Amino acid sequence: MLSREDNDLLTGTSPGTPMGALIRQYWIPVVTSNELVAGGRVKRVKLLGERLIAFRAKNGRPGLIGEFCPHRLASLYFGRVEDAGMRCVYHGWQFGMDGRCLEMPNEPGGGFASKIRHVGYPCEERGGMIWAYMGPASPPPPMPHLEWTLLPDAHSFASKRVQECNWFQAMEGGVDSSHISFLHAPLDHADAEVTRELDAASFGVGSAVQTADRAPRFEVVDTDYGVLIGAQRSRPDGTHLWRVTQFLMPFYTMPPTDLDEKITQSHIWVPMDDANVINWMVTWHPDRPLTREEIDLNVAGRGAHVCDYLPPTSEPYGDIRTSANRDNDYGMDWDAHRTRMFCGIPGFGVQDQAIQESQGEIVDRALEHLGTSDTAIIHVRRRLMNAARALRDRGTPAPGRDPESFHVRSASVVLAPGAKWVEGALPRVMAKPGRQLTLA
Ligand code: FES
Ligand SMILES: [Fe+2]
Repeated sequence: MLSREDNDLLTGTSPGTPMGALIRQYWIPVVTSNELVAGGRVKRVKLLGERLIAFRAKNGRPGLIGEFCPHRLASLYFGRVEDAGMRCVYHGWQFGMDGRCLEMPNEPGGGFASKIRHVGYPCEERGGMIWAYMGPASPPPPMPHLEWTLLPDAHSFASKRVQECNWFQAMEGGVDSSHISFLHAPLDHADAEVTRELDAASFGVGSAVQTADRAPRFEVVDTDYGVLIGAQRSRPDGTHLWRVTQFLMPFYTMPPTDLDEKITQSHIWVPMDDANVINWMVTWHPDRPLTREEIDLNVAGRGAHVCDYLPPTSEPYGDIRTSANRDNDYGMDWDAHRTRMFCGIPGFGVQDQAIQESQGEIVDRALEHLGTSDTAIIHVRRRLMNAARALRDRGTPAPGRDPESFHVRSASVVLAPGAKWVEGALPRVMAKPGRQLTLA
């Protein structure tokens, strides 16, 4: 459990909050590259409680500026995209990519424009995604070397959706790998058809479910970029299945891969505001492009991606609200719930969304009762709260200063009883062979 004060610290991300300030130390994904055309339509987005406009200038550069024009607060959603910036359609004020006001055609004389500075965040494009840096450092820090951002775009597939709950409880679902034996499992762990489907869709859940060990032992190790989380299950032959999850500062989780599988996935839990989170999912293969089948499986909602959306609106992220939602019981199949599946909601990703939203807008952690299977959650909470407090109170730089340290994967390995799991998993965890983990 957490005190109300700690819960507020963990969950509050709007401007002026310590957690919001911590997250602003890192690059944040905004939209996928193909959502913005040079000189084309802009998009309303909202990040950390701040409404913004994402656009691509005519020169091709992506930009992110405050939605409301600093003159009289008209929405720049209706603005004109220019060569290297945007112009408000109300009175024609022009803004550069960095938010500098460059022109005020309705004002006599020229002095006023230089006094106005609008919100404009630096953007970068990597791994088929547009990223923004919303923090105070100038120039911004280097981008983290996340593996898929270093690969050709065809090696990865990214999707995103809005979940109607606080970012942290959604991310707790990504940290907690004991729930897979329940929420995502068949009623009968030997139901081969279902476990096979789980494996095809989610890379590794089936092999964990098949062990029939539903009470994994958790161990955590602090690294410079975040936390390495091992969950150990006993296999019928006496060996141990170690499923290794990564938490990377401040909002990435990588669920374990399948055994002997290089396809890796990462969630990115980006706070939109305190009651909504953008749940990004990225799937990538380090050595080859993803096949059409691998992508289609996820587009069809059989993996952890959810790509079935309600008709789009122009509100922030109004085009990624999922068709399966609270209003329709997430498509619950009560018959499957009774006869075959532990949960019954179709689709791996929707199961997570339904259960995370069911916890309420913001979980009241003063009321919870944590067990040993929550070890990793307790640890990640503490890591983030300590970092947020240290930044607020002492100006301590956020963890993960070395971009190269983010060049890691999750894993699953089978080890003999007593074997050291960090050592055993290391060759699979390090994306660059031979590199060592830097422990915090
Ligand atoms: S409100 Fe934007 S230029 Fe007047
Ligand atoms: Fe899950």
